[in-house]
Amino acid sequence: MAEVNIYEGALDKGLEGVVACTTKVSFIVGDSLNFRGYTIDDLAANSTFEEVTYLLWNDKLPNAQELAAFSTQLRNEMALSPDFIKVLKAIPTNVHPMGWLRTAVSLMAHWDSDANDNGAEANLRKSVRLTAKMGTLLCAFDAIRKGKEPVAPKADKSMAWNMMYMLGGGAEPKAEHVKVMDTCLILHADHELNCSAFATRVTASSLSDLHSAIVSAIGALKGPLHGGANEQVILMLQKIGTMEKAQQFVKDALAAKEKVMGIGHRVYKNGDPRARILRGMSDKLTKDAGIHHMYEMSTLIDDTMFNEKGLMPNVDFYSATVYFSMGIPTDLFTPIFAASRISGWCAHAFEQYANNRIYRPRGKWAGKEGLKWTPANQR
Ligand code: COA
Repeated sequence: MAEVNIYEGALDKGLEGVVACTTKVSFIVGDSLNFRGYTIDDLAANSTFEEVTYLLWNDKLPNAQELAAFSTQLRNEMALSPDFIKVLKAIPTNVHPMGWLRTAVSLMAHWDSDANDNGAEANLRKSVRLTAKMGTLLCAFDAIRKGKEPVAPKADKSMAWNMMYMLGGGAEPKAEHVKVMDTCLILHADHELNCSAFATRVTASSLSDLHSAIVSAIGALKGPLHGGANEQVILMLQKIGTMEKAQQFVKDALAAKEKVMGIGHRVYKNGDPRARILRGMSDKLTKDAGIHHMYEMSTLIDDTMFNEKGLMPNVDFYSATVYFSMGIPTDLFTPIFAASRISGWCAHAFEQYANNRIYRPRGKWAGKEGLKWTPANQR
């Protein structure tokens, strides 16, 4: 046990102060988020999800020809085969959609001819399929649980358009909602060494296959301290019910040392740039949907948390009311996050495979020592 002391003082719970790898995918500087050198504000205002995915995977923005070819490649891979849909229908639907999605993506590997090829070209082909199909999968889940046939995507339309189209059961989506969804997909596409990107990299670092790395990431994103927070925000607003109760709710939560969902961040201490963009979208969309009180309640919680604790909203706080205003079922918010973040996960996997060393930290021993085994009937 002498070795234990080597790690004395090196414990960093939650790895807050640890730099685990070099990365060129995305980076947080102060309260600014950058993808491959471009700010998230710039990309959210001007780009598309397809273009941002190309950027994350290729370290440069595509020219017009490259963008058209890449978009076509992605859009052609959105559809699910009838055989695969048959298998999906066998997965129980009385589960959380993130659990269902985790199973569906794991199953996808068995239909992928490149499943066991870990080369760079095969990983790119698999990433196209995974990214193209993630949105289709979550919409298929929603259809299957309602006893309906999944709506087939249209390859001549964008991924954001298809998301709203399939979620709406095949009705023509509103142009404004398609634009909002596209912006949300951009905003969630990557976020440096967050929990699920790290999970991707940890699994990839054993040189396991890409599908396994993505299944790890979905499992990590599912938790309420990560991607699962957006769903919890709506549940919290519904529980609070009225403006009058919002401030007291926050004070009670803080007194009980409970987390207020969608607030706080490990890295941003002066605000999350994505939350600022989403706040404006939430204001407008809740008004249009006749539920502006939900936005007002959110801003009151936001202000109270800042005044009481100095904490500010993260991406999940206002995205919740954005999705809710567009009629999206609450339990699909986190799967939509996954349908965007898959692009970042793949970028992190590429980077990990290209410059790999297996992740293997140590634990500081805090258990018993020097015990001697005795037979069961003597304990
Ligand atoms: N509600 C209430 N208190 C919070 C809080 C929240 N949402 N977030 C942080 N705090 C408090 C902690 O209780 C702690 O207080 P203390 O120092 O008085 O004990 C302090 O702020 C530091 O929080 P900690 O949990 O150690 O920060 P972290 O860096 O480990 O965790 C989050 C970051 C994001 C996981 C955390 O802020 C959180 O749980 N937020 C709610 C879940 C969420 O929105 N997740 C989505 C993240 S994008």
